[in-house]
Amino acid sequence: MVKAEIHCHIEGAADPNLVLRLAGKYGLNLDDTIRDGQYVWSDFTSFLNAYDRASAVFRAPDDYRLLSYDYFSRLATQGAIYGEVFGSSDHAALMGISYVDLVEAIAAGIEDARQDHGIEGRIIMTCVRHLGPEAAEAVANQVADNPHPMVTGFGMGGDERSFTAEDFAPAFAIAGDAGLGLTAHAGEFGGAKSVEDVLDHLGVSRIGHGVRSIENPALIERLVQEDITLEVCPASNIALSVYPNYQRHPLRQLVDAGVRVTLNSDDPPFFHSTLENEYALASQHFGFDQEMLDQCTRTALQAAFVDTATRARLMKRLDNST
Ligand code: ADE
Ligand code: ZN
Repeated sequence: MVKAEIHCHIEGAADPNLVLRLAGKYGLNLDDTIRDGQYVWSDFTSFLNAYDRASAVFRAPDDYRLLSYDYFSRLATQGAIYGEVFGSSDHAALMGISYVDLVEAIAAGIEDARQDHGIEGRIIMTCVRHLGPEAAEAVANQVADNPHPMVTGFGMGGDERSFTAEDFAPAFAIAGDAGLGLTAHAGEFGGAKSVEDVLDHLGVSRIGHGVRSIENPALIERLVQEDITLEVCPASNIALSVYPNYQRHPLRQLVDAGVRVTLNSDDPPFFHSTLENEYALASQHFGFDQEMLDQCTRTALQAAFVDTATRARLMKRLDNST
C-alpha cells in the first residue's frame, strides 16, 4: 500500500541505536535517556526532555545527513512515496550547527534516499512554542532570508500551553510572506480553543494533531468549511496520554464529520511506532478500509507543501497503485 506522511520531527525519528552510536562517538552518557534500546520518559514534559537530550548527539551536519537518510529510507521501505520532516534550527544551534548547514544536511539525506529508494521529501522548518515569540521570529527570518528548494514549510511544535497563538503571528506572517506553507501544533495538550486561536492568528492550512477540535462542534464545521487538514498521530496521542485508549480517540468521528485527516508517526521510536503501524492502527482500531487508508494518503499529498508538478507526479503514483 502506498503511503505518505506530513508530520514527523527529524530528531524524534532517530533510532535509539543511531543515537547511541553517535553518543559513543562524542563520549556522551545517555544512560538516563535510553535504556534497553528504548527511550525513557513518562509524560509530555519528560518526553520533551528525553527528546532534547537525544537531539544533543547530532553535533555535526553529517550526523543530520545520516539521520535524514535513515528516516527517509525507512519510510520508503514501509511503502511511503512522500514525507515531510520538521527540522528545528533551535536544536541544531545548541550544537553549533548553522541554519544553512542544517538545511543542506537534511536535504542531502533526502536526496540520497530519493536516489536509492525513489521517495520524495521536503523540510518544514519549525520554531518551538515554549521558547517564545522572539525565537520563533528569528527562525522565520532564517527561513525567509535563506530560501532553499527543499524547505517549503514553516511550523511550530513544543508546548502549546506556552504563550498565546497571537504572540506568534509576526513569525508566521514572515514565513507566509516568504511563500512557505504553514502548520502549527494545536489541539494536542490544548483543547478546541487552542486550535481556534491558531486558525484565527497564524494563517495555517494544516494543524499538527488538532484531534481535540472534536470538543467543539462549531470548530469541526469550521475545519470542514475552511479545508483545514489535520496531521493526526494516533500512536503518539495514546503514548502521551492525550487519550487513555484507541476507543476514546476521535479519529473516526473526525473522518465521519468530513474533516480532512492524514496519518502520521510524529516521533516514531519514542512511541514504538512507524508509519506502517499508524495505517495498521487506523484499520484495527478505527475500522478504516482500504479506500479510507488510500484517502488519508491522497489527503496528505493534497495538503503537502510541494509545487504543482511534484504533487501531480505523486498523485499519479498513488492512483496507479490503487
Ligand atoms: N515535538 C516533538 N513531538 C512533539 C509533540 N508531539 N507535540 C509537540 N511538540 C513536539
Ligand atoms: Zn509533532
